[in-house]
Amino acid sequence: MSHDTPYILVLYYSRSGATREMARQVAAGVERVAGIEARLRTVPAVSPTCEAVESEIPEEGAIYADHDDLRHCAGLALGSPTRFGNIAAPLKYFLDTTSGLWMNGALIDKPATCFTSSSSLHGGQESTLLTMLVPLLHHGMVYAGIPYSETELIETRSGGTPYGASHVAGARADRSVDEHERALCVAQGQRLARLSLALHAMRAEKRT
Ligand SMILES: Cc1cc2nc3c(=O)[nH]c(=O)nc-3n(C[C@H](O)[C@H](O)[C@H](O)COP(=O)(O)O)c2cc1C
Repeated sequence: MSHDTPYILVLYYSRSGATREMARQVAAGVERVAGIEARLRTVPAVSPTCEAVESEIPEEGAIYADHDDLRHCAGLALGSPTRFGNIAAPLKYFLDTTSGLWMNGALIDKPATCFTSSSSLHGGQESTLLTMLVPLLHHGMVYAGIPYSETELIETRSGGTPYGASHVAGARADRSVDEHERALCVAQGQRLARLSLALHAMRAEKRT
């Protein structure tokens, strides 16, 4: 990856792998757009034992994000499992460490989107996506969902919402990302990449 090429930060947390698979599909959508790249990152689990620390390199999936990944991104795709209809604590914990970026306005005018996986069809995907976007609006980001021109939004019998891609993993977490869910992940990544390039150019023009 060139240092100058704008990138989308695809930041996710996943315990059983469903959100990680969605993150890969969103990244595949980003990579379909010329001139911008995807950077996959995760966050460590949090523990009620405050002294517990994770190893620096996760056992599987992407490496851990740091503030610079967020500071320098052209756009953000944020993925979380649905946890009681809300964002998972490890991602919230990471976001709660970003007040320095907020004070510097580092994310203002950058596009963002969210995606989630839940075990049940009506188990709170929409509320999760809507609550995930709130801190991003505080950061001054521009939220991009999925428009209904993506016809899978109407055809799906599983995940997929206008607020962001979603996946129904099933009670045993054994349902893989299906055709409609995957198409919406890819479309979401592609759209975010296009918007991020446009706003990246706009910010560059403003600086000159
Ligand atoms: C603490 C906790 C809370 C959960 N809350 C919900 C929920 O509100 N609705 C739902 O459908 N699934 C819920 N789930 C299931 C996960 O959202 C689901 O298994 C998801 O696919 C996990 O994603 P992952 O494979 O990326 O870890 C919950 C799981 C845990 C551990």
